[in-house]
Amino acid sequence: MALLGAAGQFRWSAATLRALRNRYDGAPVLLSGASGDMLVLLDPADVREFFARPVRELALDAVDKTKMLSVLEPTGVVCSHGDLRQQRRALNDQVLAPHEDAHPSCDTFRTVIAEECTRLTTGPALPFARLQRTVERITRRIVLGDQGAGDEELHRWLVALRKEGNWGAVRRGPTPAGRRMYAAATTRLHVYAEHAPAPTLLGRAMATSCEEDVDAVGQAHHWFLALDAVAAIVARTLLMLAAHPAEQAAIHEAAQAPDTTRLRACVLESLRLYPVVPDLLRILRTDTTWRGVPYPAGTHVLVPIGFLQRDSDLVPGGSLFAPGRWLEEGTDHDPRMAPFSHGEGRCPGDRLGLMAATEVCAQVLREHRVTGGRPRLDPHRPLPGALNASGIQLTLARF
Ligand code: HEM
Repeated sequence: MALLGAAGQFRWSAATLRALRNRYDGAPVLLSGASGDMLVLLDPADVREFFARPVRELALDAVDKTKMLSVLEPTGVVCSHGDLRQQRRALNDQVLAPHEDAHPSCDTFRTVIAEECTRLTTGPALPFARLQRTVERITRRIVLGDQGAGDEELHRWLVALRKEGNWGAVRRGPTPAGRRMYAAATTRLHVYAEHAPAPTLLGRAMATSCEEDVDAVGQAHHWFLALDAVAAIVARTLLMLAAHPAEQAAIHEAAQAPDTTRLRACVLESLRLYPVVPDLLRILRTDTTWRGVPYPAGTHVLVPIGFLQRDSDLVPGGSLFAPGRWLEEGTDHDPRMAPFSHGEGRCPGDRLGLMAATEVCAQVLREHRVTGGRPRLDPHRPLPGALNASGIQLTLARF
């Protein structure tokens, strides 16, 4: 991330996408890639259509994504299609409850977060490593329960598998060491699953009946990956609040301070600017037409959402931190901005992830202000394209 930032990769890829859009007047552009042809969508009407199409037709298990994810979650919902995918998605929906206003276990999870966050504010400096360790404990308690709170070994295996997965596109499958780690992690998860308390994600999965090949316990690999992302989301949100003292003051001035509705908007804005998934990649499972042009099954379709949701031609003040936009009605489902995607492939953990990130921020801000941070951000200039979370240092002051 640091290397890409230093090389200005984000600037030139945005410039390339903008040039393609201008040159072809916003029409979809077909590019050749190592894994076959890829249709790149750059017009909001096409993006809306992308979200509206059923995942049986426009499937999530694109070749490169599957190569990467199959190392760490070969039985995950993203790595499958057709009936099996529908069953795995149904299990994820049961566990993560995306259609409810709040996750059924959110009171338990809020208590876990409050207990773990006491160690975040022990001094004036909040380095990313401490935030990350805290979030990893929160993840283990949410997924496994207190029985797994101290299991750093399991976490090390899962993180090592993610690093190996990053090479998935150029390697043929997992290495023998990767296979051993995956097997060890799976065995450990099954042991926890037997005693998982009812409110935990594994507890909820065990209480849901499903076919054996759905692999309820195997879905936990993705839950770990997704919940761990909260550390980077919180670090970026707090860093931007350090650069926007008026926004932070408004959060503190609420009667029920900190104002979690405003904080939630700040988390969403940080996700718009620095999405966890900057490229939404799909694969056509049937021959189809797009804007009247036929494309065969196997063609990849890409929405560079990280570029689009920051582009000032589509989103006013695209590269500025303006969280108020998320307080306007309907923004959560605005297809121009999609930190959780939309439609059938929308993240089923959106409520849970948002709640967790907002609560961690709220715990830090309960008795503290973020007075500074590194890298220093200029609130009057477009924000940098990349913000390497592991390099973020925050400075706190008690009220
Ligand atoms: C914390 C912030 C999170 C963000 C920004 C986020 C973002 C996303 C996005 C953009 C997708 C769609 C990916 C694609 O189309 O390629 C996705 C899918 C998914 N997310 Fe999240 N996610 C978050 C948290 C979570 C959490 C907490 C969980 C579960 C514990 C979760 C579970 C999933 C699953 C299972 C999928 C696959 C859905 C499918 O294929 O139908 N996510 N997420």
